[in-house]
Amino acid sequence: MQPEQHEQPVPPEHLVEPAPPPDAVPGPDPQPLAAMRVRYVPGALREQDVAADPFAQFGRWLADAVAAGVAEPNAMVLGTVGPDGRPSSRTVLLKELDATGFVFYTNTTSRKAGELAARPAASLCFPWHAMARQVVVEGTAEAVDRATAQAYWSTRPRESQLGAWASDQSRPVADREALHARLVQVQERFTDVPSVPLPPHWGGFRVVPHRLELWQGQPGRLHDRLRYERGAAGAWTLTRLQP
Ligand SMILES: Cc1cc2nc3c(=O)[nH]c(=O)nc-3n(C[C@H](O)[C@H](O)[C@H](O)COP(=O)(O)O)c2cc1C
Repeated sequence: MQPEQHEQPVPPEHLVEPAPPPDAVPGPDPQPLAAMRVRYVPGALREQDVAADPFAQFGRWLADAVAAGVAEPNAMVLGTVGPDGRPSSRTVLLKELDATGFVFYTNTTSRKAGELAARPAASLCFPWHAMARQVVVEGTAEAVDRATAQAYWSTRPRESQLGAWASDQSRPVADREALHARLVQVQERFTDVPSVPLPPHWGGFRVVPHRLELWQGQPGRLHDRLRYERGAAGAWTLTRLQP
């Protein structure tokens, strides 16, 4: 899905005012974090301004984030649940947004992939702080088919492809030199191979959402929260939540 252009992208410099003088003095003060806050002043987010379809709305906001120069606008924090019921999170890159979900690629023997294989519950958080915006997605992860993974793999730089072969992601390694030695082995293995093949241990996941929440900061902490939720029949409903 191509992100749509939003009529009114909000430049980041219009979003925030300087924080009032902090109560705590920066430096050796033990509680400087308590004094860190910004006052958000973007326009209000109203129900009539958002698309009925959350994918279309996400596309608008992603286009706004790109236009505003947000660093790594496709970076999202992926939450998974371990066998002990404990959550864990890490950043991954959104590489495709199709009609059904949000796709990222990873090592399929990594911790995150193992957790998703055993329990496909996933959350995604796009933290667009520079725009006083956040999108949170909750959904179910499914493996991307090999043909789709191959198509994306072919677009990756050779350096990244070799790195994927060299890394046994999420496993311990003695030191950086040991990791580099693995890379050298892989470089030698594929020296005369023009197209590095897709590793068997590498692939994608598509997070199919059942909820998607838009958050936009507002003055006085009266932030806007609009949550899309998919009903049993597949239709999306929109609900405003208290901040
Ligand atoms: C900006 C950023 C983007 C990242 N993108 C990916 C990604 O697309 N795929 C991936 O496997 N790891 C990515 N990582 C590394 C992960 O955050 C993580 O360290 C790694 O996947 C191992 O996670 P796990 O041990 O929980 O499986 C990225 C990290 C950062 C900071």
